[in-house]
Amino acid sequence: MTVYAADTKRYEKTPYSRCGKSGLKLPAVSIGLWHNFGFLDDFANMENMCRTAFDLGITHFDLANNYGHPYNGSAEENFGKILDRGLRRYRDEICISTKAGYGMWDGPYGDMGSRKYLVSSLDQSLKRMKIDYADIFYHHRPDADTPLEETALALDQIVRSGKALYVGVSNYNSEQTKAVLKLFRELKTPFIVNQPSYSMLNRWIEKDGLDKLAVEEGFGLAVFSPLYQGFLTSRYLKGIPADSRLGKGRTWIKDELDDAMVKRLNKLNEIAVSRGQTLSQTALSWVLRNSAVTTVIAGASSPGQIIENVKAAHRTDFSKEEIDAIEAAL
Ligand SMILES: NC(=O)c1ccc[n+]([C@@H]2O[C@H](COP(=O)([O-])OP(=O)(O)OC[C@H]3O[C@@H](n4cnc5c(N)ncnc54)[C@H](OP(=O)(O)O)[C@@H]3O)[C@@H](O)[C@H]2O)c1
Repeated sequence: MTVYAADTKRYEKTPYSRCGKSGLKLPAVSIGLWHNFGFLDDFANMENMCRTAFDLGITHFDLANNYGHPYNGSAEENFGKILDRGLRRYRDEICISTKAGYGMWDGPYGDMGSRKYLVSSLDQSLKRMKIDYADIFYHHRPDADTPLEETALALDQIVRSGKALYVGVSNYNSEQTKAVLKLFRELKTPFIVNQPSYSMLNRWIEKDGLDKLAVEEGFGLAVFSPLYQGFLTSRYLKGIPADSRLGKGRTWIKDELDDAMVKRLNKLNEIAVSRGQTLSQTALSWVLRNSAVTTVIAGASSPGQIIENVKAAHRTDFSKEEIDAIEAAL
């Protein structure tokens, strides 16, 4: 095994911005390990993706307790192995986020937002990755049945016990975020980020006002599925490749790829080409142009996709004509 040494020029390759009003800076493009990092996936490829990302200055790796196919937790196990095989010596240069909130294990204590679930789940995540603390620990989705005070206090105490440095919430809309923010302020919890979905094809945060709230209240947005799970890339412009997420049947959004969608994606691709970008780069640049967004968490299935995507961070300006053309295509 060759010893991994990170590219010494890595910090020249990606811009970083402050996550809300916190002290933590995140790269414009982060990498998510939801897909392609599971037990059955190719380990050499996933290790190559993580090293490629870090060599490009991508310091933020986004995980969750339930990531990994075919069993929950296998992405965290694989990430632990990748750390062991070289990246761990850079631990202090890496921001690792993980989450709990979706179904993780059987029975009444492996889902949603109880203190029982959140504390034990993070303990498991730390063991799988063989790390002492998570940099960001998220509540993965709102839980209407658990008192919000319980969830907020559990996150607060997780930080005070040293198991996480910062906390975040994911999939909370602006009303839900306002409510939990009030509790975090009372507790003085280092709540710094919300993780919503957002892309050209999914603009709910604009309608909901979550992006406006983030700017007003000083928390960051780490946006997930900015490529709409791969639609906003060159992947599906001419059919469905067998090795793609849709080709492997690993997503529920296949029905949305009808003729009208393919036409729309091809139109967006033309706009991207006229900007001198690929479609995935324009899709990421478009999300990053929203000043509420701290980072886009993009998934990948190959190192080449990461190399392509990270370039989006350097081109977040859009002319009025380009924005109008994108709106018309959408
Ligand atoms: N908080 C939450 O509830 C939540 C939910 C979902 C995701 N997330 C986070 O967000 C991350 C990203 O989500 P996602 O994977 O759905 O995001 P995405 O970035 O919208 O889609 C990623 C997929 O797009 C394709 N792709 C990426 N770059 C490409 C390129 N340059 N050219 C062609 N295809 C490209 C790849 O698909 P192929 O495999 O087909 O190549 C890749 O797996 C996850 O890993 C996770 O960390 C969070």
